[in-house]
Amino acid sequence: MKMVKINLKTLKNRVQKEVEKALDLKELDEIFKKYLGKRGEITRILRSLEKLPKAKRVKIGREANELKNFLREKMEQKKSSFVKTTEDKEEWLDITAPGQKLALGHLHPLTQVQRKVEEIFQTMGFSVVEGPDMETEWYNFDALNIPKDHPARDLWDTFYLKNGLLLRTHTSPVQVRYMEKNNPPLRIIVPGNVFRHEATDSSHEFQLYQVEGLMVDKKVSVANFKAIIGEFFRRFFRNDIKFRLRPDYFPFTEPSFDIGISCLVCGGKGCLVCKGTGWVEMAGAGMVHPNVFKAAKLTPKEWQGWAFGFGLDRLAMMKYKINDIRLFRSGDLRFLNQF
Ligand code: FA5
Repeated sequence: MKMVKINLKTLKNRVQKEVEKALDLKELDEIFKKYLGKRGEITRILRSLEKLPKAKRVKIGREANELKNFLREKMEQKKSSFVKTTEDKEEWLDITAPGQKLALGHLHPLTQVQRKVEEIFQTMGFSVVEGPDMETEWYNFDALNIPKDHPARDLWDTFYLKNGLLLRTHTSPVQVRYMEKNNPPLRIIVPGNVFRHEATDSSHEFQLYQVEGLMVDKKVSVANFKAIIGEFFRRFFRNDIKFRLRPDYFPFTEPSFDIGISCLVCGGKGCLVCKGTGWVEMAGAGMVHPNVFKAAKLTPKEWQGWAFGFGLDRLAMMKYKINDIRLFRSGDLRFLNQF
C-alpha cells in the first residue's frame, strides 16, 4: 500500500513535468497514451484495484482517479496554451497589418520623356520606328548627302569600330533605312541612342538620346512642320512656350533650320544651360534634301518632306528644369529618386 502511494506521488510529479515539457500536440498525445491509454500506467493501476482489499481499494482508487483527472486537466491546459500560441502567431502574421514597405523602382526620367514624346506623336498619326546603334558609314553619312571629304563629317565625328561599323551620331540614318522599305506617304518618329566624339559640359554629352521625325507626302511644307512642332511643344510642356526657327545648315535638308525654345531653366534670363542667351537649341530640322530621296530610291520630283532631330535629353532638361545633362547618366539615386 505504501509503495503504491509513493508511486502515485512520484507519478504525479513525473506526469506534470512531462506535460509541461511537451512542445506540441503530438508529444501531448504520446503522454496521454503513455499514462491513460489502454496499457497506460494509470490505467493499469486502476485495473489492478480489484485485487486489493476493499479499504485499500477505495483509498487508492480515489487517489488514482484524482491523478487521472489531474493529468486530464493539465493536458487540457497545455493544449489550449498551444492553440493560443498559434493564434498569437496568426495575429502577428495578420495580413491586414501594414507590411514592410519595399523600395519600388521607377522608369528613368529619359524613358518617361521618350514615352511621352511617342504618345504625343502617335496621336498625330506618326509611327514609332527604331534603327541600329551600330551603323554603316553609308547610312550615317553618304546617304545623307555627306560624302567622305565633306567637312560636316567633323561635326559628327564618332567612334569607329573594328568591325567596320561606327556608332551612329544621329537618328537621321533611319530616314533612309525606312524610306527604302516603305513607300510614302509616311510619318514616323525614331527615338534612340546616339554617340558623339565630343567633350562634355552642362548641356553636352558624348552619349545622348535623339528623336528623329520624318513626314513625306505629295505636298508638305514648312508651315505643316511649324504647326506640328508647335502642337507638340504645347502638349509636351502643357504650356504655350516661346520657340523659334532660325536658318541653319544640314547637308541632308534644304532649307534647314534650328529650333530653339526660351530657356525654361532660367525663364529666359540667361544661365549656364542656355549659355546666357535665354534660348536653348532643341533640334535641327528642314525640308528633306533631293539627294536623300535619291539615296532611298525615291523620285525627288514626286515627293516632299520635312525632318527634325530633337535632343531628347534637352527636352527632359527643359521639362524638369535640370541644369546639368550629365546627371541623367550619373547613376546618382538622389537625383533619380526625384522623378
Ligand atoms: C543632328 O543631329 C541632325 N541629325 C538633326 C536633323 C535631323 C537635322 C533631321 C535636320 C533634319 P545636331 O547635331 O544639331 O543635328 O543635333 C540635334 C539635336 O540633338 C540638338 O539640337 C541638341 O538638342 C541635341 N544634341 C546634339 N548634340 C548633343 C550633345 N552632345 N549633347 C546633348 N544634346 C545634343
